Amino acid sequence: MTSDALSNLLHEDRRFPPSPEFAAQANADASLYEEAKADRLAFWDKQARDLLSWETEWDEVLDWSNPPFAKWFVGGRLNVAYNCVDRHVEAGHGDRVAIHWEGEPGDSRSLTYADLQREVCQAANALAALGIQHGDRVAIYMPMIPETAVAMLACARIGAIHSVVFGGFSAEALRSRIEDAEAKLVITADGGYRRGKAAALKPAVDEAVAKSPSVEKVLVVCRTEQDVEWDDSRDVWWHELVGAQSEDHTPEAHDAEDALFILYTSGTTGKPKGIKHTCGGYLLQTAYTHRYVFDLKPESDVYWCTADVGWVTGHSYIVYGPLANGATQVMYEGTPDFPEPGRWWDVVEKYGVTILYTAPTAIRTFMKQGDEIPGRRNLSSLRVLGSVGEPINPEAWIWYRRVIGADRTPVVDTWWQTETGAIMISPLPGVTSAKPGSAQTPLPGIVAQVVNEAGEEVPDGHGGYLVLTEPWPSMLRTIWGDDERFIDTYWSRFEDRYFAGDGAKKDEDGDIWLLGRVDDVMNVSGHRISTTEVESALVSHPKVAEAAVVGASDPTTGQGIVAFVILRAAAGDGGADVVQELRNHVAKEIGPIAKPRQIMVVAELPKTRSGKIMRRLLRDVAENRELGDVQTLADPTVMNLISKGMSGSS
Ligand code: WTA
Repeated sequence: MTSDALSNLLHEDRRFPPSPEFAAQANADASLYEEAKADRLAFWDKQARDLLSWETEWDEVLDWSNPPFAKWFVGGRLNVAYNCVDRHVEAGHGDRVAIHWEGEPGDSRSLTYADLQREVCQAANALAALGIQHGDRVAIYMPMIPETAVAMLACARIGAIHSVVFGGFSAEALRSRIEDAEAKLVITADGGYRRGKAAALKPAVDEAVAKSPSVEKVLVVCRTEQDVEWDDSRDVWWHELVGAQSEDHTPEAHDAEDALFILYTSGTTGKPKGIKHTCGGYLLQTAYTHRYVFDLKPESDVYWCTADVGWVTGHSYIVYGPLANGATQVMYEGTPDFPEPGRWWDVVEKYGVTILYTAPTAIRTFMKQGDEIPGRRNLSSLRVLGSVGEPINPEAWIWYRRVIGADRTPVVDTWWQTETGAIMISPLPGVTSAKPGSAQTPLPGIVAQVVNEAGEEVPDGHGGYLVLTEPWPSMLRTIWGDDERFIDTYWSRFEDRYFAGDGAKKDEDGDIWLLGRVDDVMNVSGHRISTTEVESALVSHPKVAEAAVVGASDPTTGQGIVAFVILRAAAGDGGADVVQELRNHVAKEIGPIAKPRQIMVVAELPKTRSGKIMRRLLRDVAENRELGDVQTLADPTVMNLISKGMSGSS
């Protein structure tokens, strides 16, 4: 974030207290904070009893005897799928819609909780028939269709550990995740619809699986009916196998600390980290936050989270939180602007969406398109709006509330991460007097601080690094197969505290403003991509000798990827062709979301005398700023060359 944007942020003094009517009906009041403060573990103990159904009670709420390896609800046993599905049917809500699914071409399907129960049971039986057992890993590479949630819940039901890989990732990204988790099964589809076209998924799976000896079977949902290659010894159609299974399946309880899933996220090195989450604590905190942050009323609300299930937001706020709470939700397959820019608002109107959870990038895009498009739809059903994934600038926040929320709905800016599993810092819509641009307060039960380089808490009005000072139920338990990296990445920078990798500032009231990543992780449209990952993809191209990548601020996507490359002599002097070739190469290696916005072919990169690339200077160039201090450069004249090269590059 530029320093201008930063100081604008801190001069933001508009306040939006909840209306008395909203506060009066809200699930949470201020006593929730007091209760949690008085006895944090007793608070979580009570939430776990209130919100989930357990087969066996726990002996201890938290075992923190071997930090940073936490155990929550020690000895407790539960079945996650039973909590998300069966118990709602048993409570008489079998006819309630769980998922209103809207396909991009306009087809739709509504599944009640009873439907979901039947499908999850069948899918669980199918997994068992394929030899999948408790503890086995299953990779899921799917479009946004109900079967994706069914597949995840079926894994949870039998205690298999799912690893969902975003359908926009490349075959190579899928392969490396399959390999790291040693997945035995891949669940996929022939394809999904994006911008009016059937986008294929199966070919990427075929390519990845050909190089993945751990994979025994591939289970394929038929969504688009496009042609697919078929390997009879390996591939199985979902409708043939799952459809033939019994609709009965008895869920067994699993240990609260058994793994529920692995989800890969970018770190500061090239290799993505497999973030491990477990059954009890994760389900509890997703259910708790979903109920209180969105003020969910399961009987009457229609909730819609626009994320893709391939990201943590989809895991926690499409699958586990809402379903644990027995919510009715919308799931949408496609892009926001197909067949035209008002598609989302049509969906809101069609289903009477009451709670909308989306990302600042989307909000800023709609803002650019103008008030008229949403203005033509009836959005009066909306009552709570949420934001996640990156800092939301106050103007986008205000627009969201004014145009989408009719200047009436609370807006909750929710800060959290793949690693935290669930929302950590956010206003409570019936309690907090909201400040546009600030996530404000750790939720009841969560303890966060802003500290300086030395790890000392900064006074109000100052900035530093965000840390979490107490363990929380949905915290990651480790990085899959790499406890050392878990300790090094999160628990070593500040002793005994979790380092989130985000910069933050506390205002004069002690409210927290998140300022973006402080490491080499970029945030592009709310997606985390590491600079090193993109650099490795670039240097894997035969024409590239060296590459340096930075995230430059971007008015719509938050950050845009800007790459500086040195070509090998044989590659000539670059030009538009090579730039396009390299952009496509990155898309092939990682996925289209990682395509650099700009690639600059340069003769040199700015390096310190010890050979470290000075990204700070490259960021100055990419953001058209005056250059910072160049004294530590081995060759200070390099920057003149690069800045000159900027003009005219594509
Ligand atoms: C950023 C997404 C500011 C932050 C749930 C964090 C945010 C990273 C916010 C995690 C927010 C997420 N305000 N920044 N409300 N929410 N971030 O793992 O930099 O994809 O570290 O999880 O997104 O991204 P992840």
